[in-house]
Amino acid sequence: MKKISLTLTSLALALTAGTAIANCDPGERVVKFSHVTGGTTHPKVVAANSLADRVNTEMNGKLCVEVFPNSTLFGDSKELEALLLGDVQLLAPSLSKFGSYTPKYGVFDLPFIFKDMDHAIRFTKTKEGKDLLLAMDEYAGFVGLGYWMSGMKYFSAGKQLTVPSDAEGLKFRVQTSDVSKAMISAMGASPQAMAFSEVYGALQTGVVDGQENTWSNIYTKKFYEVQDSTTETNHQLLAYLFMTSSEFLASLSTADRTQFLQIADEVTQAANLNVKAAEATNRANIIKAGGKVNTLTPAQRQEWVDTMSPVWKKFENDIGKDLIKAAAGA
Ligand code: LMR
Repeated sequence: MKKISLTLTSLALALTAGTAIANCDPGERVVKFSHVTGGTTHPKVVAANSLADRVNTEMNGKLCVEVFPNSTLFGDSKELEALLLGDVQLLAPSLSKFGSYTPKYGVFDLPFIFKDMDHAIRFTKTKEGKDLLLAMDEYAGFVGLGYWMSGMKYFSAGKQLTVPSDAEGLKFRVQTSDVSKAMISAMGASPQAMAFSEVYGALQTGVVDGQENTWSNIYTKKFYEVQDSTTETNHQLLAYLFMTSSEFLASLSTADRTQFLQIADEVTQAANLNVKAAEATNRANIIKAGGKVNTLTPAQRQEWVDTMSPVWKKFENDIGKDLIKAAAGA
């Protein structure tokens, strides 16, 4: 891989989109990495670009990773299918988007199961957490290479939300997660599943009243511009399955596979070390840009916990009681 020379305009566009620019040499195997987030400070953008930089330097002449951010290659609804078809080799979708492949990842969506990201990271290092990386290998051929944390999630809406009853009757965009849908219903609100690329427009035009996301997504996608405020609920985790297909891995020579997996692992460790700082920066960026952040007293937060706790019971059988116990107790 050699870096290409860019005009100032194309450089500016590439930086805005968080694109890792690569120009693959003849003979190099092109590896496409598609994802849906954008900006330059987003943890997934940083991790994907770091993976591309490392592979393209350390495996120069063999593999060449091209990153396509912002749903420019495949959006939410198409990316997993594209991986199955071999049209892309690397993805990092949210764990909330695997409902049609496995109910097990619902464990990551249970409201308030993780106190914070450190708790979630501890779970991913347990036997149960590691086993889940390969939960879909046998029948779908999806191979989890690691978990990339993104952040805890917060609710935003066109009005300030302080207690769950403030959300009654509102419509919230959610990812395609049955757990998230049940959680919104428990608040007396209506869930509407929608691709990430459509959220800003839906908030702006009033198709939905609110959404739930991390500071990095709220900042880089400018959701704060079209919402009254964001409430620091910390109610759910957003994390990604950094993944490939068993077919892609099998197509590499043993030496290349070992080197690629080593880089993938090191990038994953570094990404999870840096994610808290990225989230804090983007929280501050929202406030600097004029967005409002609403903090909760412990009593107000407890109301959210109590409202959402019946959701666990609903998914206990699908997810598995032991798995829930392992995650909660990690
Ligand atoms: C969302 O759809 O809200 C997120 O999963 C987007 C992302 O990849 O962070």
